[in-house]
Amino acid sequence: MNKKTKLVISGLDGKRELSGEVSIAGSKNFVLPAMASALLFENELVLENVPELEDVSAMAEILKKIGVKIERQNDKMTLKSGNNLSSEIDFEIGKKMRASIILLGPLLGRTGKTTMPHPGGCAIGRRPIDLFVQNFSKMGTKISLENEKYEFSTSGLKNEKIIFKNQSVTATTAFVLAGILSKGKMIIENSALEPEITELLKFLTNSGAEISGIGTATLEIIGREGKLLSAKSPLKIIPDRIEAGSFAVVGALSAKELTIKNCEPSHLSVFLECLSESGVKMEIGDKEIKILKSENLSAINIRTHEYPGFPTDLQSPFTVLLTQAEGESLVFETIFENRLKYTEDLVKMGAGINMFDTHHAIIKGKTPLEGKNLESPDLRAGLAFIIAGIVANGQSEIGNAGLIDRGYEKIEEKLKKIGLKIERVSIN
Ligand code: EPU
Repeated sequence: MNKKTKLVISGLDGKRELSGEVSIAGSKNFVLPAMASALLFENELVLENVPELEDVSAMAEILKKIGVKIERQNDKMTLKSGNNLSSEIDFEIGKKMRASIILLGPLLGRTGKTTMPHPGGCAIGRRPIDLFVQNFSKMGTKISLENEKYEFSTSGLKNEKIIFKNQSVTATTAFVLAGILSKGKMIIENSALEPEITELLKFLTNSGAEISGIGTATLEIIGREGKLLSAKSPLKIIPDRIEAGSFAVVGALSAKELTIKNCEPSHLSVFLECLSESGVKMEIGDKEIKILKSENLSAINIRTHEYPGFPTDLQSPFTVLLTQAEGESLVFETIFENRLKYTEDLVKMGAGINMFDTHHAIIKGKTPLEGKNLESPDLRAGLAFIIAGIVANGQSEIGNAGLIDRGYEKIEEKLKKIGLKIERVSIN
């Protein structure tokens, strides 16, 4: 992955000067499972509105090595899985990408075995895979670990009743994809409700899968005992709600007017409610959000929660907003145990933040921010540093910019278009 670049930002010193429109790309956390689902289809799977992201390229690379033919033309991607599939998930790419574990079920269904590394992803917490190990064993899979490589093998997956002790986006997706080619009835209790999951399940159902309970926390899947699905139409990737929310914060802190186009405001209700409560003025349309000049923001408390609650992926941008709000706010990060650490760097910029344990931070605002040179620790914190750099006085440099490219398409081009001075510089 291209990590050897930095973004150099000229801060606006709290002024609301940016303006214009930004168009939201397809969702990262939808396109990755959608690509993985190609292994379930007998025919070509066509995806539309595919974003240009590092994680999409990485998933394409893994799938190609498995034996999926992939063609990409602008925002359209065609995937066709052949009959001679390799069962190996690329070790180097897989260990950097959490979503690689979604391939496990379809690969077990197609080849009876899979080898893979511990799936990585952003360093935001432990990222355990106990739910996968426990429930794939229950479905009749033997699992061993040698030289950091997991080997999964089965003589035939059998659907079971699965109860997740906590809601997990990736585990829900992984077990639905596993259940489709297996034998018998699968029931998943406490499944995740994120729109990326719901929309994929609707598409799979339209393509022949028997899934009921879509949009609820209890899903029922009737396995097809190896019979592949048939895609009848292209699948359009839904807009990235996290990118839309991130630009809403950019607008609230630094724009006289910013229109966020091609988004799905209904997927961001709680987040938009919090923005509004903190004093951000906006007009919410059907597929766009217009952020109006918003000054005099006020403190509010937020608590991240599984969908439809406040998204953990928007916690860091929102925390930057709270540094510019009058009063004391509490941020309670409930999902990941390492997702507040970046606040130490915001403090170096002048923010009044006290992290009193790994899940709680108090933000005292409003404080001016000073431009600094920072390293992006993960995708979403990297974006938060960009926003802090925009608000700050003077220049900021955000290193490790490749991590931001994992989830934000053409970030500096989009920011330049609305008037920000931002450059990408290669680091030798
Ligand atoms: N968990 C377990 N055991 C497991 C799996 C998860 O205890 O086997 C726990 C996690 O430790 C966490 C909670 O369950 O506390 C929820 O994690 P989840 O599995 O839902 O997260 P994920 O699937 O690994 C996805 C997104 C993340 C996003 C989270 C929460 C993808 C590829 N990743 O991660 O996206 O933060 O859901 O919404 O879909 C990002 O885009 O920056 C990102 C990290």
